[in-house]
Amino acid sequence: MLSNKLDGQRRGRSFDSINKRYEDKQLNNETEENKDKISSSKREHAAIVFSLKNEVGGLVKALKLFQDNQVKLLHIESRKSRRRNSELEVLVDCDSDRETLKEVVQLLRKQTSIITMDSPDRFSTPANGTVFCSFIREMSKAQKCVYKSVKIHFSDLAEVPWFPKKISDLDKIACRVLMYGSDLDADHPGFKDNIYRKRRKYFADLAMSYKHGEPIPRVAFTEEEVKTWGVVFRELNKLYPTHACREFLNNLPLLTQYCGYREDNIPQLEDVSNFLRERTGFTIRPVAGYLSPRDFLAGLAFRVFHCTQYVRHSSDPLYTPEPDTCHELLGHVPLLAEPSFAQFSQELGLASLGASDDAVQKLATCYFFTVEFGLCKQEGSLRAYGAGLLSSISELKHSLSGSAKILPFEPSVTCKQECLITTFQDVYFVSESFEEAKFRMREFSKTVQRPFSLRYNPYTQSVCVLKDMPSVTDVVEELRHQLDIVGDALCRLSAHLGV
Ligand SMILES: [Fe+2]
Repeated sequence: MLSNKLDGQRRGRSFDSINKRYEDKQLNNETEENKDKISSSKREHAAIVFSLKNEVGGLVKALKLFQDNQVKLLHIESRKSRRRNSELEVLVDCDSDRETLKEVVQLLRKQTSIITMDSPDRFSTPANGTVFCSFIREMSKAQKCVYKSVKIHFSDLAEVPWFPKKISDLDKIACRVLMYGSDLDADHPGFKDNIYRKRRKYFADLAMSYKHGEPIPRVAFTEEEVKTWGVVFRELNKLYPTHACREFLNNLPLLTQYCGYREDNIPQLEDVSNFLRERTGFTIRPVAGYLSPRDFLAGLAFRVFHCTQYVRHSSDPLYTPEPDTCHELLGHVPLLAEPSFAQFSQELGLASLGASDDAVQKLATCYFFTVEFGLCKQEGSLRAYGAGLLSSISELKHSLSGSAKILPFEPSVTCKQECLITTFQDVYFVSESFEEAKFRMREFSKTVQRPFSLRYNPYTQSVCVLKDMPSVTDVVEELRHQLDIVGDALCRLSAHLGV
């Protein structure tokens, strides 16, 4: 296992332990002794100390040589050179075959000065594996955090629950529905309706056979289904102007214009997905029924929203015991078209990846009382942004009636609240804005126990586990590039404004 393998002696090296070895050597010490070590040793891992100019990008460039040649880096330390202020000394503990290592060293020599290299056992420090000692006192707080993350990488990864790393991995979880098709509970309005159950099976099969990247199958809705949707659409639209939040009201007309939101038409998920992609990068996946909180939140991490496509039973259009396409299209979609809300939703999802069951449950409860039943303040009055409210006439009225209990959204409190499925909520939570809710969730997410950090890569639609120095330096490089763009934009603005 990774953690056991890496958590042993190999971690027990630091600059302290090698200090005496290279203290007496000259910089750029490419001795025959070192060359011999490379060619004759049969070991598969080694520690290299090299020196390079302390300039932007130098370390990244050097480390990239290891990455490009697929040399596994087990441990990295760096510090300011004690000989030359303008230089940085770097210790790299790596694992590779001899030939590859030779090639990397040769390439490394072209851009750095190799001080020494040796077998790992020559650099052993106390067996407890605690490194980062010799120079860490000299480092800034931020640098210490970075090195801490390297240390974490070697410990608890084996305990982390599986989670999707790329968007197509969602194919593996979308089929893990808890209830679907004709498996309706005895108290479901459609339980005794065989035609309805057969129709539900049709929708379930569509969703279960869907794969990432495919267009969502267009559905020819029956007259009865359109009529049911029409009742829900008409009644809710009477309440929206006085009950829905500003962002919802702004986006609803766009959905009418681009996706066919009308009383006499049920929008197609494919059209809605394409619309959302252009607005916020969110896309939709059809799903057959309930997913577990972990699987559902994982979709959000990739800006994927799992949507049901079936319509509630026609016997009672204003009631459904489970989410249906009326709930998804009217409750969720208008806000998924809002950038700040989309970001909030994705961050909730990202926080859940690899988290413990307990942490996922807390995040799911926060999701429930925000994305499903959240309230916000706008122009001095309460408005609803939760989809569970915006798709339920009776609960939407109740939540803003003045008689419902309302508390400020505070994740550490909200996550302990009981979620009620078949009755109105005992309490609703209000945020000043999505930005505020996002800020509070971010702070709360930092308390989630997880032995690594994650970063979403929108270009590859994948998550990157920041578990070692190269992955962290990649982020730093990207941030530098972004800051360059900001700097350039500010310069141009200044010039334009004559400031
Ligand atoms: Fe929902």
